[in-house]
Amino acid sequence: MFSLPFFSATTWTLIILALTLLLLYGIWPYNFFKKMGVGGPRPLPFVGTMPYSFARGLDFPLECNKKYGDVWGQFEGRSPVLMVADPEMLKVILVKECYSTFTNRRTFAKEIFGPLQDGLTVVVDDRWKRIRSTISPSFTSGRLRQVFPIVERYADRLVKTLDTEHPDQSVDVKKFVGPYSLDVMASASFSIDTDTTVNQDAPLTVHLRNLLKIKFWPLFVIMVLPFTSYLFRLIGFSIMNRASVDYFYNFIKRFKHDHKEDKSGHSDFLQLMIESEIQESDIKDGVEPSKGLTDPEILSQAFIFLFGGYDTTSTTLSYILYNLALNPDAQQTLQQEIDVHFPKDSPVSYEALMNLEYLDNVISESMRLLPTAPLIDRVCKKNIKINGLNIPEGTVVGVPLNNLHRDPRFWSSPERFKPERFSKDNGEDINPYAYMPFGLGPRNCVGMRFALMVMKMVLVRLLQDHNVETCKDTVVPLEFNMIFQPKKPIKLMFSRREL
Ligand code: HEM
Repeated sequence: MFSLPFFSATTWTLIILALTLLLLYGIWPYNFFKKMGVGGPRPLPFVGTMPYSFARGLDFPLECNKKYGDVWGQFEGRSPVLMVADPEMLKVILVKECYSTFTNRRTFAKEIFGPLQDGLTVVVDDRWKRIRSTISPSFTSGRLRQVFPIVERYADRLVKTLDTEHPDQSVDVKKFVGPYSLDVMASASFSIDTDTTVNQDAPLTVHLRNLLKIKFWPLFVIMVLPFTSYLFRLIGFSIMNRASVDYFYNFIKRFKHDHKEDKSGHSDFLQLMIESEIQESDIKDGVEPSKGLTDPEILSQAFIFLFGGYDTTSTTLSYILYNLALNPDAQQTLQQEIDVHFPKDSPVSYEALMNLEYLDNVISESMRLLPTAPLIDRVCKKNIKINGLNIPEGTVVGVPLNNLHRDPRFWSSPERFKPERFSKDNGEDINPYAYMPFGLGPRNCVGMRFALMVMKMVLVRLLQDHNVETCKDTVVPLEFNMIFQPKKPIKLMFSRREL
């Protein structure tokens, strides 16, 4: 028979007290939303509403939206997240009050983010403003025109591999387009020819693949027990593979050094950053100059470009190809547009590419149905009242953009793939605060124009002489894991067009 250990009454009292205190700790913040008058699913001790998110994925915010309205409260561990799916409130949060109140994203345990901690996605307030205004000129149309020929060259190389390496077989599309995104990113950032399209076992590709295997469990541990972030920091833990991080840091450092030595005038992103280099001592008493990047900041931004640009672009491209394979009519309309403007093998010009309207509509519609980043966030840095709701300083606001993209109040037949809804002449009235695949407001995606150019180029090159089709390995509909990645790879077939 199981028997309780013999402890004195005092010991038992202490044990019960400790357990009660622990439980209280686990549920302490849970009346946060009650006080605000905001509804939401019931959180579980310590883990909050995370188990529901894990089990239901992107359906969970959709279900909450239906049940509680456009504003509700969730708990990531013990941390409250105010979910807002109301376009009028989002206009204030993401646009009007971005600089004054909602400038920053949530940053927890920055130190375990390794080289990303100085990156634009993570930095806050005036430092963010300085870094953003320094790197924004990298993405003007003048700059994009300069890198355009490189993008075209890599798109051509990728399409050539279709006939040699994947004739009539199903292709894991993300793996297929990934090397193109990486080559383009590396060339535009450092003027180097990585050519991972052809050489998939190049150290650069291998290390990048390692880097993308981010360890997510420490983030969940920190959400449940925030104090563990100090422990992770203490032991120098990083969520990314150290050896690969070091490889990239040295790689970027080497290019930075070579660029400085070589006066022949590169036109890449790194060169622009080097030209605006400042010293740590230029930032006096925390007062930020309006522009300029320090040495570690340059390395971090280069890293963010490569790392952030590669994965998002290849994921988005694989969703677009998936939607085109499932919707052959839309694919045919797109091919007709391409045939008119760029008959087979004819060169593609920047202006003409950016003016292909149906192509633009296809990309927009695919990013509506399958946004690559279905959730973004901001932190409220001072008390504010929006639409009668008092939001206290420190509140994290989550924006479930996938909900907005599928809301029948803003879209007709939201589940259907209808690129023409974005058409300038006879499209739907798009609510600009209900559509945000690249985020919204001054803190939106800085690389958006570049990403669009890169995606448009390869789509034109692929569809000029190929069709993309579903095959027996294509999973329909897609299912996503808890970090919003497809559970199974997207597999499609490419066949030669009969022209
Ligand atoms: C299709 C590809 C891409 C998608 C879907 C995408 C999506 C996003 C989203 C949703 C955000 C958050 C915006 C917000 O919070 O309002 C973001 C931020 C960001 N993206 Fe992208 N992105 C893509 C490509 C790129 C590329 C190619 C680069 C770099 C060359 C890049 C660099 C960044 C940076 C640095 C930020 C942070 C901006 C800031 O905090 O000021 N992204 N992106």
